Amino acid sequence: MSPTSPTRVVVLGGTSGIGLAVALAAARTGAHVVVGSRSAKSVGHLPATATALPVDVTSSESLRSFFAEVGRFDHLVYTAGDALVRAAIADYDPERARRFFDIRLFHALDSMRAALSTLSPTGSITLTSGAAAYRGGAGRLLGSAVSGAVNSAVRSLAVELAPVRVNAVAPTVVRTPLWSGMAEEDRERMFALVGGGTLLGRVAEPEDVAKAYLHLMDQDYTTGTVSLVDGGAVLT
Ligand SMILES: NC(=O)c1ccc[n+]([C@@H]2O[C@H](COP(=O)([O-])OP(=O)(O)OC[C@H]3O[C@@H](n4cnc5c(N)ncnc54)[C@H](OP(=O)(O)O)[C@@H]3O)[C@@H](O)[C@H]2O)c1
Repeated sequence: MSPTSPTRVVVLGGTSGIGLAVALAAARTGAHVVVGSRSAKSVGHLPATATALPVDVTSSESLRSFFAEVGRFDHLVYTAGDALVRAAIADYDPERARRFFDIRLFHALDSMRAALSTLSPTGSITLTSGAAAYRGGAGRLLGSAVSGAVNSAVRSLAVELAPVRVNAVAPTVVRTPLWSGMAEEDRERMFALVGGGTLLGRVAEPEDVAKAYLHLMDQDYTTGTVSLVDGGAVLT
């Protein structure tokens, strides 16, 4: 983002984890950032140039009010998500699977729709998928499937929305509050195990992943792509 042309960045899911790291990194470049989530009003650690507005991405009406309040802006980042579901096909539950897709794919698309009329024609949209799209594993069915769906959606959306650019970031395991449902000891063991299986020997920090979103906002000749941020995990 050029410091001579201040940009406005909206991060849906920007109050925690990856989205919060994107918001903080974008604010450091001089961008004016709006973070949106259900608890946005209570976010205390954002810089003065950032605004927090409540929105529930599962509600089209909430999205409409949110974007009406935001007004014109340049870049949309979507990182809203909830706890990961690891389940074998033998334990497949259609309702749980649908909910998993809802926030990661269907409401991401509805958020884009709601944003279109106020998004700059020279701006960008960056969605979130996951490295599970590239490397399967027992219990990773839903993560793999939804990540592949987001990656594919990006290619059609880039064609349809050009010159607005549409890309996605595909992280491997990132140390964020998404994992807070696990007992600390189990979580740290999992981070060590997964991190040890990467070429770089550790899981990602939110700041590692935020750099990819910043790059895709700034790189104005890239569209329809997926930026894999996995420490080389898919090569091991
Ligand atoms: N962390 C990882 O290891 C990892 C790896 C690969 C992919 N991903 C994907 O990356 C995305 C972000 O993950 P994260 O680790 O940053 O998660 P996180 O720390 O739990 O943050 C999720 C964000 O989404 C917001 N959110 C949840 N439901 C919402 C709703 N209905 N409306 C608006 N905002 C909502 C949350 O805020 P409120 O609760 O206040 O609404 C929060 O700001 C997820 O889709 C996840 O699957 C994560």
